[in-house]
Amino acid sequence: MGDKIHIFDTTLRDGEQVPGCKLNTKEKLDLALQLELLGVDIIEAGFPISSPGDFESVSQISKVIKNATVCGLTRAVQRDIEVAAQALKYAVRPRIHTGIGTSDYHIKAKFNATQDEILARAVQAVKWARNFTDDVEFFAEDAGRTENEYLARVVEAVITAGATVVNIPDTTGYCLPHQYGEKIAYLINHVPNIDKAILSCHCHNDLGLATANSISGAISGARQIECTINGLGERAGNTSLEEVVMIIEQHKYLGLYTNINTQMLNPLSREVADTMRMPVQPNKAIVGANAFSHSSGIHQDGFLKDSLTYEIINPEQVGAEGSKIVLTARSGRSALAYRFQKLGYEFNRNDIDQLYQQFLKVADSKKEVMEEDLRKMAEAHVPEQAVA
Ligand code: KIV
Ligand code: ZN
Repeated sequence: MGDKIHIFDTTLRDGEQVPGCKLNTKEKLDLALQLELLGVDIIEAGFPISSPGDFESVSQISKVIKNATVCGLTRAVQRDIEVAAQALKYAVRPRIHTGIGTSDYHIKAKFNATQDEILARAVQAVKWARNFTDDVEFFAEDAGRTENEYLARVVEAVITAGATVVNIPDTTGYCLPHQYGEKIAYLINHVPNIDKAILSCHCHNDLGLATANSISGAISGARQIECTINGLGERAGNTSLEEVVMIIEQHKYLGLYTNINTQMLNPLSREVADTMRMPVQPNKAIVGANAFSHSSGIHQDGFLKDSLTYEIINPEQVGAEGSKIVLTARSGRSALAYRFQKLGYEFNRNDIDQLYQQFLKVADSKKEVMEEDLRKMAEAHVPEQAVA
């Protein structure tokens, strides 16, 4: 089976920070229940001090979630932590996620402080949070741009203070996969008490590398990945849950596994897109409308002979509707015959040759040839032999 990767879902916190995606308590509650069914290990339910509405959402979610850990975000501020603890008081498994910026950008521009002062505040926050729960996660914001030596000092100190999970966010999505992986490896090799905590990947997608960076972190030894359904999140988004889960599933030799019920990936993606009013791009991996569509003649011919030629995932495995043969001006005869067959028309090779010429004329005039176009062609078709 290998090593478990804990899936920390932050759709309801980082994902909900997307402009226009704000959810009310009922919507958050419904999605939290679905996330639990999906099998995520941790649900980051919100940022309780940020608004009374978010406090209420975290509190309500804490009451209904029975298996997953429910987590609330805080700054490294005593009052934030107390409010989060209050919101989480009904949770079966409460987690406080506290932290502070550790890169020079944050230390100087945001806090006008020194590295030592930030380290002291980090330790204080973790110790304070431990008064309320044994499950405390610390985030070193902008760890992606924090020099490794200082980061290792912070990680060691917060583990000593009681952090059980240490989150290494690439907050700005700056790192390349090998750099992020090396950062995780550096921490594993240089933090003496690293065996007392789990390292977590939290990667943003500003350069389109969030998923690659998270997988690189996991290969280097991180055992938690923070991600969102449909990759929602600040700016260009977070690591997409469906992508990391299916990478781990597809590449079993990595020796990693998750508890995710993969058949829920497409239905839940749609539910999140609808609830958050944020449509999924059609070419999105795993859950996009075109993820299992084949449109060019070369691909369609290969796919119809053996689906494995052009598909590495069975759509059923991820709850998708099924593979689609889409007809466009790039499609070939085998696809056309297949689509006619699906509509109940059996044509021989000769018929298809004739129909194909007609099909190309229609296809050149529009983006996609639809079922009604095919029916019209089929009904109007007079086989050549009959004319002669
Ligand atoms: O991107 C980030 O650094 C975050 C932290 C609050 C974990 O979202
Ligand atoms: Zn984030």
